[in-house]
Amino acid sequence: MRSLVSLVYGSLATLLWVSVYFDLASAASIPRYPDLEARTRADLDSNTVRRELGSRLSRGTVIFGPNDERFAAATARWNMFAPPQIRVVIQPGEESDVSKIVKYCNDNSIDFLALNRGHGNSQSLGSFNGVQISMVSLTNITIQPNRQSAWFGGGVYGGLVTKYLWERGFVTTTGSCDCVGLLGAGLGGGHGRHEGLHGMVSDNIRQLNIVLGDGRAIRVSPTSNSDLLWAMKGAGHNFGIVTSFELNIFPRGPDTWHYHNYIWAGDQLEPVFTALNNFHKNGSTPVDMTTNFGSFFLNTSVSTTDPILSWTFAYRGSAQKAEALLTEFNAIPAVYDEQGDVPYTLISKAQATSEDDFICMHGNKRITTTAGLQVYNITAERLIYEGFKARAISNPALAAGCGILHEGYSTAGVTAKNPADSAYPFRSDHHLMLFNGVVPPGDAVLEAQAWEWANEVRDMWNAGQPGRTANNYVNYANGFEDLETIYGREPWRLERLRALKQKYDPQNKFRFYNPIVEPREGKGKGKGKGKGKARRRSFQG
Ligand SMILES: Cc1cc2nc3c(=O)[nH]c(=O)nc-3n(C[C@H](O)[C@H](O)[C@H](O)COP(=O)(O)OP(=O)(O)OC[C@H]3O[C@@H](n4cnc5c(N)ncnc54)[C@H](O)[C@@H]3O)c2cc1C
Ligand SMILES: *[C@@H]1O[C@H](CO)[C@@H](O)[C@H](O)[C@H]1NC(C)=O
Ligand SMILES: *[C@@H]1O[C@H](CO)[C@@H](O)[C@H](O)[C@H]1NC(C)=O
Ligand SMILES: *[C@@H]1O[C@H](CO)[C@@H](O)[C@H](O)[C@H]1NC(C)=O
Ligand SMILES: *[C@@H]1O[C@H](CO)[C@@H](O)[C@H](O)[C@H]1NC(C)=O
Repeated sequence: MRSLVSLVYGSLATLLWVSVYFDLASAASIPRYPDLEARTRADLDSNTVRRELGSRLSRGTVIFGPNDERFAAATARWNMFAPPQIRVVIQPGEESDVSKIVKYCNDNSIDFLALNRGHGNSQSLGSFNGVQISMVSLTNITIQPNRQSAWFGGGVYGGLVTKYLWERGFVTTTGSCDCVGLLGAGLGGGHGRHEGLHGMVSDNIRQLNIVLGDGRAIRVSPTSNSDLLWAMKGAGHNFGIVTSFELNIFPRGPDTWHYHNYIWAGDQLEPVFTALNNFHKNGSTPVDMTTNFGSFFLNTSVSTTDPILSWTFAYRGSAQKAEALLTEFNAIPAVYDEQGDVPYTLISKAQATSEDDFICMHGNKRITTTAGLQVYNITAERLIYEGFKARAISNPALAAGCGILHEGYSTAGVTAKNPADSAYPFRSDHHLMLFNGVVPPGDAVLEAQAWEWANEVRDMWNAGQPGRTANNYVNYANGFEDLETIYGREPWRLERLRALKQKYDPQNKFRFYNPIVEPREGKGKGKGKGKGKARRRSFQG
């Protein structure tokens, strides 16, 4: 496995250099700015960018390269499996800078990539080499006079938005982890604690300001470039850089949320999953029973061989109402349990998804696979559990870094929306699964074993729902999956996305995050397509 991986990445690097070379040669003759000499920019560094571009950008803009002390933090990523290669970081101080940065990159044949919070997980990011446009300074939030929506800067993230709005009496749809970017998540759907009530992040987007691949700044709304609005809600990473957007907001609701966290031993797996299926009733979860996350992992203070079942429930409202819905769980003997009532802003801490919780930490190399389910198959979950237990015994180093995550949201607000109205394709998936294996860098054997395990678990989840297709939520996809399994199998979905791509990003500038159009495809460099396919296949198992 490892040799195949190095082979694929080796040839990838070569191809990348070849294409960079050709692009530089062809574009160098048409500089947009008169003061730029026609020359290749293989040597582009932060000093050059600062000199040539800096004076045209707002005062708050920051430009730096690998030698700057800020570089490591600015380019740190959640998953180091296939990180993008960043040569220069530009952190625009104002929205209007983004257009100028994109045009400058184009004039210099340098690729650019928007960064929100750095959790992007797809291996496709590994093919990037160029300028990172860090959106992190664009965090303006302006509640609109009608108090039904707010404008947000393109760099806002879950925790920031949640706190800001809650203090002013509102909530909105965000991801469940405070650390995750509102757009990184929202452009692909965006699952979170308010989806049962209000739908996903993407369902609440009213309009967006976008910089297209050619640097033009446009408004996307029901009355302006309205065809693109459909695509931005589920496949948005492929079409532009969002500099700001208007999102619905809602009255904040009850002052406290109830949480109840349990740890069960593995021998309780059948009753736990039976209770979960009874509780969710195949997509009919009571809307205020907003979120539960469950994980199989090794807690060595409980057992070194038997993974625990660690579950956390969040209810929007009182302990009394919540506990009435949790009676079946309370009847299952637990190793440990705790409960409490907190303001909504602290529910992430209670569920271990706050900014300083382990799940949010950057810098690990992770092997992931995903699946979307309607109900839990208890036989499949037992098989998955036993697979974990076997590794805990035979391969403790591997088992120690792995967690098998199960997510159960209330989904009424998601299923209420017409699936054809946006690019998000998987409204009938009620449960989102993630295999998340941390492996030490440089251990090829362990990495190959992790891939084998990750694929095995995904296949067991999918084999457990014989009548259904294998789906990969775009924001959980590892990027090796087939496109139809990410953007939807109805042929019209990818057709429509590709037509919009042709219209709004004909140069395929946005091709680094689960690209709809394979890198370099359609640019007359036939190798590109083969490269993409080869990478896709290498871990299919
Ligand atoms: C710890 C953790 C928790 C998660 N929790 C959830 C969750 O609760 N719900 C959920 O739905 N998903 C969740 N995810 C998945 C998450 O949606 C994706 O990882 C997403 O890509 C993260 O966005 P980001 O801003 O953090 O990452 P980034 O890597 O910064 O962004 C991902 C990609 O989005 C694009 N992008 C970013 N900003 C912009 C912009 N302004 N305009 C245009 N494109 C942009 C870029 O292509 C970028 O590569 C989680 C992931 C992790 C690692
Ligand atoms: C933030 O919003 C205010 C108005 O709401 C505006 O005047 C200001 O320019 C915005 N700042 C940025 C950096 O976008
Ligand atoms: C779940 O509901 C869907 C319809 O939404 C139905 O097709 C499916 O058969 C149900 N699954 C089970 C196990 O009841
Ligand atoms: C491990 O289990 C102990 C109970 O034995 C519990 O107190 C602790 O919180 C658990 N740790 C994690 C990370 O779940
Ligand atoms: C549950 O999973 C098992 C193992 O993959 C499979 O044989 C069985 O058909 C599944 N049951 C249902 C009801 O889908």
